[in-house]
Amino acid sequence: MTFEETNKNRRSIRDFKNTQVSNDIINQILKEALEAPSSSNTQPFKVVVATGDTLTNIGNELTKKYKASLSLRKKNIFEKLIIARKFKLKPNKIYQTIQGKYFGIYQDRRIKTAIGLYKILGIKKEDHKKRNEEMIKNFNFFGAPAAIWIFANPKMKYTALVDTGIFMQNIMLSATSKGLGTCPQGALNIWREPVDNYFDVPKGYELVCGLSLGYPSDAVVNSYRPEKIGLEELLVSERK
Ligand SMILES: Cc1cc2nc3c(=O)[nH]c(=O)nc-3n(C[C@H](O)[C@H](O)[C@H](O)COP(=O)(O)O)c2cc1C
Repeated sequence: MTFEETNKNRRSIRDFKNTQVSNDIINQILKEALEAPSSSNTQPFKVVVATGDTLTNIGNELTKKYKASLSLRKKNIFEKLIIARKFKLKPNKIYQTIQGKYFGIYQDRRIKTAIGLYKILGIKKEDHKKRNEEMIKNFNFFGAPAAIWIFANPKMKYTALVDTGIFMQNIMLSATSKGLGTCPQGALNIWREPVDNYFDVPKGYELVCGLSLGYPSDAVVNSYRPEKIGLEELLVSERK
């Protein structure tokens, strides 16, 4: 694949075949991702790769948390506190910091993208049950056989986030070039405790984002091509 083809073929994949991805391929993808530039070559990240039973267990624990968080809606404040404590629902520290509030054109684009996705899935906007069934798939990695979590050192401040984003994109493009698919998922950084239960992430590293990795299935959801803005919206005009 040329770069153009790889770049065009990379789309967020939300349904995977259950074909395993070999460790060799995952390692190759990560090695290629490490060619990414980073601020003064600091490479301020650590990566968790989960597959097999570990991935299933993490997925089950995340799903439990998500379901418990949904149940909060109908509870009074005391019940909320009890459930939040029991299921350890306090979001990951960095999630609270980096998750922006959607507003204006960003909220418009977000809604447009979501509507497009539900349309392709045949789900009506008001069908909360079906929408929730789709949402919950985030926590079993859309059926992917592997998931990757990227942690960065927050002492490096914004540069760590820039570096992590570039690194993640390299992972996604490398995977695409090998016929694999990925879905970057903010949903996978709401709670990090299930990952910490299975991996010794070095102290000081904060979870920035997770992504699912596997071979894309033929499901219709994977044909979704959300619209990107054009250059006229992107480019800032020169002062006259
Ligand atoms: C930081 C980040 C977080 C995302 N979180 C989710 C998520 O939790 N669930 C999901 O299905 N897609 C998620 N996405 C995928 C975006 O919805 C997707 O990138 C966007 O709609 C554009 O589609 P494309 O990736 O196919 O070009 C995320 C993407 C990024 C970059």
